[in-house]
Amino acid sequence: MTAVVVAAAGRGERLGPGVPKALREIAGEPLLVHAVRALVAAPSVDLLLVAAPPDQIAAVRALLADVVPDRVGLVVMAGGSTRTESVRRALDVLPAEVEIVLVHDAARALVPAALVEAVVAAVRAGAGAVVPGVPVADTIKTVDGAQVVTATVDRSALWSVQTPQGFSRVVLVAAYQAARNDDAGQSIEATDDAGLVERMGGRVLVVPGSAEAFKVTRPLDLVLAEAVLAARRASR
Ligand code: CTP
Ligand code: MG
Repeated sequence: MTAVVVAAAGRGERLGPGVPKALREIAGEPLLVHAVRALVAAPSVDLLLVAAPPDQIAAVRALLADVVPDRVGLVVMAGGSTRTESVRRALDVLPAEVEIVLVHDAARALVPAALVEAVVAAVRAGAGAVVPGVPVADTIKTVDGAQVVTATVDRSALWSVQTPQGFSRVVLVAAYQAARNDDAGQSIEATDDAGLVERMGGRVLVVPGSAEAFKVTRPLDLVLAEAVLAARRASR
C-alpha cells in the first residue's frame, strides 16, 4: 500500500492574517481540497493521512468527504506545532500494510498527479528516498551580517526541492526516529523530510519536479495559483 501524509496544520503566517493556510481558498476552494484532489487522481495512492490544524479537524473531515473516492482511505488527525511534529503524528498511526510513504505539503496545492506517480514509481524502482527538484533560476549569493556579499554560489549545483517526497516506509520511519533520538531528546526540526534521511547518511534521489508544484507561501503565490487554475480551465 502507498500512503500520503499531507502536512496541512500550518498557520500560514507569511500569507498574512486569515484562516489557516490549508483552508485559504483559490478559485473558491481551500488549498487542501485542491491538493487532495491531485493526490487522489494518482492511481497509486491508497491512503491519505491528513495532519490538520487541531481546531479544524471536523471541518477538514467534512471538506474532504466528497473529494476522496471510496477506493482511497482517509485519516484526519491533529497536526503539531512544527511541520516535523505534524508529519511525525501521521507516521505514528501508519497502518502495517503501508510500504511506501509520500509526504506532501498541502500548500503545494496544484501539484500535477503525474508528479505524484513519478515519485511513487522511483520508490518502487528501488530508491529509499526521492525528492522532486527543479534547477534554481536566480543567482544565489551568501551575505554577511553587514549586508555585504561574501560569495556567489555555483548555481549549477543548486536545486529547489518540492513535495511530494517519497520514501520506503522503513527509511522514513528510521529517519524520524533518528531525529527524535538526537540532541538528547530534543527533536530535530527539518524543513523537508528528505533532510532527515540525509542526516542519517541516507541517499536521496532527485527526480524532475514541476513548476506547478510551487508552494503557496506569500500573497503573490495566491495570484499565481489562480492564474494556473485559469490556464488549466482554458486548456480543457
Ligand atoms: N505544516 C504543518 N504543521 C505545522 C507547520 C506547517 O503541517 N506545524 C505544513 C503546512 O500546513 C504546509 C507545509 O507544512 O502545508 C509547509 O509549511 P509552510 O509552507 O511553512 O506553511 P506554514 O507553516 O503554514 O506557513 P508559515 O511558515 O508562513 O506560517
Ligand atoms: Mg512554516
